[in-house]
Amino acid sequence: MIGSNYSSSFSFFLRAIVLLLFSISNFVSTFASLTPDLCHPDQRDILLELKTEFKIQKPDGYSITSYPKTESWGNSSTDCCNWDGVTCHTESGKVIGLDLSCSCLHGQFQPNSSLFRLKHLTSLNLAYNNFTLSPIPDKFYNLMLLKTLNLSRSSLKGQIPREILQLTNLVSLDLSSYVSIYSPSPSLLLSIKNPPFFLRLLARNLRNLTALDMSYVNISSEIPHEFSYMLSLRSLHLERCSLVGEFPSGVFMIPSLQSIILDYNPVLRGSLPVFHRNNSLQVLRLWETSFSGIIPDSIGNLKHLVDLTLAYSNFSGRIPSSLGELSNLSSLSLSSNHFTGEVPSSIGNLKQLISFDVSSNQLTGNFPSALLNLTKLSVIFLDSNQFTGSLPPNIGQLSKLESLSVSGNSFTGAVPSYLLQISSLTELELDDYQLSDLVGFENVSLFSNLQDLSFISNNFRVSSPVDLNVFSSLKQLVVLYLSGIPLSTANITSDSDFSSKFQSLSFSGCNITEFPEFIRDQRNLKYLYLSNNNIKGQVPDWLWRLQELQDLDLSHNSLSGFDGSLKAVPGSHIQMLDLRSNAFQGRLFIPSTSIAYLFASSNNFTGEIPRSLCGGQSSPTIIDLSNNNFHGSIPRCLGSHMSSLADLNLRNNSLSGSLPDMFMHAYELESIDVSHNRLEGELPASLTSCSALEVLNVESNEINDTFPFQLSSLQKLHVLVLRSNKFHGKLYQSDGAWFGFPQLKIIDVSNNDFLGTLPSDYFLNWTAISSNEDKDRQPHYIGNSSLNYRYYSSVVLMNKGVLMVMERILTVYTAIDFSGNRIHGQVPESIGLLKELHVLNLSSNAFTGYIPSSLANITALESLDLSQNMLSGEIPPKLGDLSSLEWINVSHNQLVGSIPQGTQFQRQNCSSYEGNPGLFGPSLKDICREKTSPESEPPVSSEEEEEEESFSWVAAGLGFAPGLVFGFTIGYIKKNLGRNKN
Ligand SMILES: *[C@@H]1O[C@H](CO)[C@@H](O)[C@H](O)[C@H]1NC(C)=O
Ligand SMILES: *[C@@H]1O[C@H](CO)[C@@H](O)[C@H](O)[C@H]1NC(C)=O
Ligand SMILES: *[C@@H]1O[C@H](CO)[C@@H](O)[C@H](O)[C@H]1NC(C)=O
Repeated sequence: MIGSNYSSSFSFFLRAIVLLLFSISNFVSTFASLTPDLCHPDQRDILLELKTEFKIQKPDGYSITSYPKTESWGNSSTDCCNWDGVTCHTESGKVIGLDLSCSCLHGQFQPNSSLFRLKHLTSLNLAYNNFTLSPIPDKFYNLMLLKTLNLSRSSLKGQIPREILQLTNLVSLDLSSYVSIYSPSPSLLLSIKNPPFFLRLLARNLRNLTALDMSYVNISSEIPHEFSYMLSLRSLHLERCSLVGEFPSGVFMIPSLQSIILDYNPVLRGSLPVFHRNNSLQVLRLWETSFSGIIPDSIGNLKHLVDLTLAYSNFSGRIPSSLGELSNLSSLSLSSNHFTGEVPSSIGNLKQLISFDVSSNQLTGNFPSALLNLTKLSVIFLDSNQFTGSLPPNIGQLSKLESLSVSGNSFTGAVPSYLLQISSLTELELDDYQLSDLVGFENVSLFSNLQDLSFISNNFRVSSPVDLNVFSSLKQLVVLYLSGIPLSTANITSDSDFSSKFQSLSFSGCNITEFPEFIRDQRNLKYLYLSNNNIKGQVPDWLWRLQELQDLDLSHNSLSGFDGSLKAVPGSHIQMLDLRSNAFQGRLFIPSTSIAYLFASSNNFTGEIPRSLCGGQSSPTIIDLSNNNFHGSIPRCLGSHMSSLADLNLRNNSLSGSLPDMFMHAYELESIDVSHNRLEGELPASLTSCSALEVLNVESNEINDTFPFQLSSLQKLHVLVLRSNKFHGKLYQSDGAWFGFPQLKIIDVSNNDFLGTLPSDYFLNWTAISSNEDKDRQPHYIGNSSLNYRYYSSVVLMNKGVLMVMERILTVYTAIDFSGNRIHGQVPESIGLLKELHVLNLSSNAFTGYIPSSLANITALESLDLSQNMLSGEIPPKLGDLSSLEWINVSHNQLVGSIPQGTQFQRQNCSSYEGNPGLFGPSLKDICREKTSPESEPPVSSEEEEEEESFSWVAAGLGFAPGLVFGFTIGYIKKNLGRNKN
């Protein structure tokens, strides 16, 4: 009992204490609520005013989570110092910090905003709001105490006010903007006025800056060397700023610098300095710049480096072995440079490495087996190099590996089965892997019997196709590229254990003969590439129900039609449809209204051009329907869908009517090819709106018009082909107005009805042909190479007496063809100004007088045809000095005298001179005696073609058959381009 008494009195005691404690705490809190707010009423009022200046609107798009911080302001607590995002000075109670980042603020940032009355602010963050493209107010200089100012990604637009540079206390300044790199023409929102001055002032005034981020600000200027003296800098981020000139290498040497990012400044030059030991660099990113030179051995001194990204630049030399000293490195990207040699084995020391990307270089040697020591490795990209040998058998020990690409090398041997046991793999790219045997697959032993060897191209040394099921063990696989490897998909049935999570599949050139059925279930599939197979029959309509599908490449198969109802499928979002070079017949089916890239050339499509092309919300970028049999007129409705059209190719169909006057809004249009149709009438007036136009080809139609002088205002027009139409009238303006066409390099008006004479100064001011202003620039092809698709214009021209296909138009190529008209009078003496002319054809006109001796100035001339005129006098002897002149025809004139002594003249056929009774000389006799078959030139062998300084031509003969010729030229072009690069 005593015990129990005791215990009850104890519990009473406890209760008393609890009560007491409770009242004390009550007392304390009552007392606290009696103390005055730390917040000053005036500061509170300013904040409440600020709150009303913006609406609250949840942003879409950002992955960052936003919530409206200001919404709760003033609701429960009157002490503004407790409000979300507000910091007060602990003694004075003035608002010194405001963090309204990601706060869903929406609306114009007014120049008189109450914000600028918070004079005690030292830290202000307004990042990730939407100020609806208003300018940055210049009032920021009111906030003289600011140390941190962050306006990142807040949809501000216009020039950054120079007043910001008066904030000399700034330690951190973030003005970075943002545009999606996928937007077709990313225009930067923010810019600066007089950038060199602004940047120098910045470096001088903001000496305390530790962080500067001006990414996505249009700077378009050099970085001044003063930046090297910003000795407090820890991070400098200038991504996509259109920087130019040479980057001051002193910046890399700032001892405190930890992070420097200069990505996407494609013309920014620079090189890496000799790095010292006392540095703090952790992040060094130069993705897509023009930085060049080697990676110095001293890179090994960057002991803190975590991210080294030098991709898509111009670096060369070997990968230094000192790279292995970067023991903290987790990401290494050297992709798309000119690195040579082997990967040093020292990379085996990079124990922290997660991502290793050396793709698209000229690296040699075996698979870098040192990588197998790196247990954290998740990404290996070796694609597009010259690696040889086979994949190492123990690659399976890389248990964290998610992405492996070895495409585009010369790997041989078996694809090891242990690769198929790395369950973490999400991306596997084995394109062009040369399977010499399939030993590795024996364990999985699932290949079907070979049926037809004849389809297998020489590249493959494999005797039977690989069963796609062997990859079914890789459950995480999202990307699978097997181009060039013979595949069998037959064993994949609906109940097989095959991943249904693919986003990207590439089975190009895999000898597939049927549409792989398993694709039907690939609900996440975005990209499907099945080109260069032997798929026959119909395109299944279940493809259009794959709602994620964006890119579909079925080119170079034997498909003949479309299954199903041929009605656009509402859920289809296909943007790129490539049906080139199949056996399609009948009408063209366009499955989706979001088509941006439509390639349907070289089939046998008939009927009218589908009006559904005009049905979409947006404008297509490329339409290529060439080499089909489309009838009827060109749909005029296309005119309202041309705002982003870059290429329109309707070549070689049976289209009739006139070319519609539909180009009013075609500001992006670079190439129009409507050649080889039955178009009549005049050229439309709206063509003058195509300010980006580079190529206009209306060859072989029935267009009845005068020469389009009005197009001379097109500043970019490079190629104008009017051949074989009913053009008539004169080739110059009788008021003597300047010819114009500042970029014109190829003009072909042959086989029309042009007449009149050409004044002697006619070729004055043909600037693009008279001087080679692109000499310093690499020759390139006219065409469209956006993110994923390359598309080039082609043209057929007379050269060296035959029609030739120029599959791609090199920007340095020049030609003038006036042949087959009725032009009379003298050949203008000014022709000699065209120093960069390669091909001149004035044949089959009525030219009289002498051959101008100024022709001897055209040192680039390769092909000269003056035949079938009424030219008289001698061939100017100086023409014999033209060493590049390979082909000459002056036949059927009234020339006299002897043939020039130059070897080029002596090499010609007799037929080049015939029909000139007055031409004589011992050499002519020799020429005409030696050649046994004067009528035809000996064919130029490909060897010769390559040795000569010639361009990408293939003789098509007069029977022009585009479908046949096109493919062949590519080989030449690659070679030529390669040589031009060197
Ligand atoms: C700022 O100016 C606008 C008009 O220019 C006015 O409507 C607004 O009330 C002003 N705001 C403040 C905070 O003074
Ligand atoms: C600016 O604010 C954003 C959002 O809070 C943040 O991610 C970024 O790092 C800040 N910038 C700097 C330079 O601190
Ligand atoms: C071109 O058009 C004009 C006027 O319409 C016509 O008189 C002429 O005959 C046409 N020329 C040809 C070659 O068809």
